[in-house]
Amino acid sequence: MEDALDEVRSVLKKYNQEHLLNGFEKLDDKKKQTLIDQILNIDFELINSLYINTKNDFCNNNDKIEPMDYLDKYKLNEEYKYYENIGKQAIKSGKLAAVTMAGGQGTRLGHDGPKGTYDIGLDSHKSLFELLCDSLKEEGQKYGVTIPWFIMTSRENNEETLEFFEKNKFFGYKKDKDIFFFIQSELPMVDTEGKILIGEDGLIKQAADGHGGIYEALVNNGMTEKMKQLNIEWVFIGGVDNCLVKMVDPVLMGVAIDKKVTVACKSIVKANPHEKVGVFCKRNGKPGVIEYSEITDEMAEAVDDNGELLYGESHILCNLFSVEAIERMGTTPLPYHSAYKKAKYIDKEGNLVVPDSPNAYKFEAFLFDAFGEVDDMAILRVKREEEFAPVKNADDAGVDCPSTARKLYQEFYSTK
Ligand code: UD1
Repeated sequence: MEDALDEVRSVLKKYNQEHLLNGFEKLDDKKKQTLIDQILNIDFELINSLYINTKNDFCNNNDKIEPMDYLDKYKLNEEYKYYENIGKQAIKSGKLAAVTMAGGQGTRLGHDGPKGTYDIGLDSHKSLFELLCDSLKEEGQKYGVTIPWFIMTSRENNEETLEFFEKNKFFGYKKDKDIFFFIQSELPMVDTEGKILIGEDGLIKQAADGHGGIYEALVNNGMTEKMKQLNIEWVFIGGVDNCLVKMVDPVLMGVAIDKKVTVACKSIVKANPHEKVGVFCKRNGKPGVIEYSEITDEMAEAVDDNGELLYGESHILCNLFSVEAIERMGTTPLPYHSAYKKAKYIDKEGNLVVPDSPNAYKFEAFLFDAFGEVDDMAILRVKREEEFAPVKNADDAGVDCPSTARKLYQEFYSTK
């Protein structure tokens, strides 16, 4: 351990982060080793540059932004059946898997635990995980297959998520045969001076690296290899917080296969020009998403000859990828965005600080920043009331909350 400690000290000195060893002597041997390993694994150059970037505006105003073409699922006419048949064949041949990004906690919801374990208040009291699983099983039965399900957790919620699934007997799925769990990566959090924080446990304070971490996590945890062994070619990636997410959609798959694109995404029309969602666009000729914080009022309000918003196709985290596209995206670094958050930490004197306002930066990659890796992708406009019922906030927010999601869910299933 002494040799490693010498190395740690010299690295910390170089990057002006020597405070990370302040509480070292008070740790037990296991934690001492963990802290050493953590420090030796930190990319200090990256963290330093991310901290410097927190001072800069992320968006690049020189980018050329243009509207993106899309297909409307319900205006496809006879082509609907054509695409659907192509997709159905692929699903029946076992070419499709589903991935659920469930690394988030239900903090905004006021839920203490993995977001997927949240009960939105239906009579059945089913959790988000179970609602998603119900829909996967129902779709699988239609095609005579079990759709393999891959679930991304985070270090913070992995154990609890697994316990939850075990308790519920994996909702009929078979662990390591058709349901797989993998953990996303993390990055250290830094304070306003760029100092990495030590958490309550005496170790580096780390946070999940955003849903953009999905590609790298799928590759590095051997999930893409597993998919190839299972002869899977297409992977639907969606969030855990949309209780109407439609992971198995033959039309979307048919469009992707027929148009020979490696990524096909669903969109819904923006509820109003200023709804807080990202919208699809072409960025310097490549597919992309422009976040609501980045778009000018003029662009947000611009309409085409039919009076439709030029930038009106909202990104709802319902995206289909070829395994090959995931592998490419998983080996190409994505930019990180910073978020200013409240984070408990141990200060230089060894005291626990519990802030009541944001005090630290967390770094996150966004899944859609990888879209520029492909030359073209297909966008399929679907109906909001059929596919988008997000559960993000507590009920007092009035939008994207349990009561709105519950209503949308009940309405959808009552008309089915
Ligand atoms: C996101 C999109 C927004 C889109 C909306 C649709 C961004 C910046 N914005 O918003 O354009 O309209 O979703 O719902 O992405 N997750 C992880 N690990 C992480 C972070 C997130 O697994 O490190 C998962 C969450 O569990 C959730 C999903 O990713 O299932 C969405 O994450 P969240 O941070 O809630 O997205 P939003 O900011 O609400």
